Amino acid sequence: MTDARSDLSPAADLAALYTDHIAQLQARSAHALGLSGHEALLIASGVEKFAFLDDRPYVFQANPHFKAWLPLTQHPDSWLLVRPGHKPRLIYCQPEDYWHVPPQAPAGFWVEHFELIVVRRPEQALEHLPAALLGAGRLAIVGEADAALGDFVPNNPKALLDALHFARGAKTGYELERLREASRLGARAHRAAHAAFRAGASEAQIHRAYLEACGHAERELPYANIVGLNEHAAVLHYQYQDLTPPAQSRSLLLDAGAQSGGYASDITRTWGNGDPAFQTLLDEMEAAQLRLVDRVRAGTDYRDIHLAAHAEVAGVLRRLGIVAMDEEAQVAGGISAVFFPHGIGHLLGLQVHDVGGFMADETGTLLPRPEGHPYLRMTRRLQPGMVVTIEPGLYFIPMLLERLRARPESAQVDWALVRHLSAFGGVRIEDDVVCRADGAPENLTRDAFARLGD
Ligand code: GLY
Ligand code: MN
Ligand code: MN
Repeated sequence: MTDARSDLSPAADLAALYTDHIAQLQARSAHALGLSGHEALLIASGVEKFAFLDDRPYVFQANPHFKAWLPLTQHPDSWLLVRPGHKPRLIYCQPEDYWHVPPQAPAGFWVEHFELIVVRRPEQALEHLPAALLGAGRLAIVGEADAALGDFVPNNPKALLDALHFARGAKTGYELERLREASRLGARAHRAAHAAFRAGASEAQIHRAYLEACGHAERELPYANIVGLNEHAAVLHYQYQDLTPPAQSRSLLLDAGAQSGGYASDITRTWGNGDPAFQTLLDEMEAAQLRLVDRVRAGTDYRDIHLAAHAEVAGVLRRLGIVAMDEEAQVAGGISAVFFPHGIGHLLGLQVHDVGGFMADETGTLLPRPEGHPYLRMTRRLQPGMVVTIEPGLYFIPMLLERLRARPESAQVDWALVRHLSAFGGVRIEDDVVCRADGAPENLTRDAFARLGD
């Protein structure tokens, strides 16, 4: 089992950045343990899960708290013990198994940062877990409920998790390098998928071209690829892939990422077939998306970027003649939300929708979504080092359009144009963007495409 191909980053740089990353995680953990009143932190990598009444496992998903320390994504039944002032202890489960390929012997730049113990059976980890800390409740154990081993039952203290989740919003230098690499892999694969679309491929063929180009097995993707041709582009999280191409491929909406050491990219591109009206829509959305990316600045309330996106979408609808209402009236009346019914984006990192998007502080105070915007996934003020997606969309969703038809504003809609554009499904353009201490943001996605050249 190999991890995502990693031919894009100089390994030496990554190793140096990782040393600093571990030091930061040690400091964050010591601080979080102080808040929760525990002496040590024990993190389960996770356990394999099986289908009901069956022996087939689901795709393993590592505990993100484990992945934060280690670039190990396919390692169930391992444990990490973090004690302030000590080298972290990794109990690494490498079973003797001739049915499957077990994890490789520990190797790589990360190994020297851990006190390493290799066990052959999951229950052997018990001998190396600190039972002395258990009885008095001095141990914070982070993991899923079914990752329990004997008396080591995850207790997931809220105060500790809140502090760790809040801190995770701002990335370390190591994490940024991982995210850059995930973007490069994703951009390369988007290029290949676009070529397949132009050649008339089916959704399934486009998906396979994507996998081939980024070097990931399907199970290594950070989320299921969304590969929508034509009207399927109007389904926000379209989950199927038709095996046969449509008679005419008018548009492709591809929302697909990649991962590096457990860190995700999340990239959406939409392409047309040269139809002038749809091309104008694409060009307008591209310009709007870039203006929104430019708002990713330290101190900005992310909710304001979401509201600005509604004004942008309303402007596109007005300029294209789809809706004959000014921007303010569209946003206030919920018309922009008919065409843009999701949030502008979210935090990105170890999880595609990374944790902590609603936290005002490390004690877990929640920041509400703006009223009438139930799908926004991030309400925080932007800080340097945060990585967010900026993903405005404009779709022709039959269910929502039917509701609009029943409203008085229906008279302001050019329904013939809506019918024409509905054949293309919709547009989403999504970049992964780093907030910097000052100046313009770093656009991981655009930088990755630029490296590929034309
Ligand atoms: N790929 C899911 C999202 O963009 O949030
Ligand atoms: Mn996204
Ligand atoms: Mn996406």
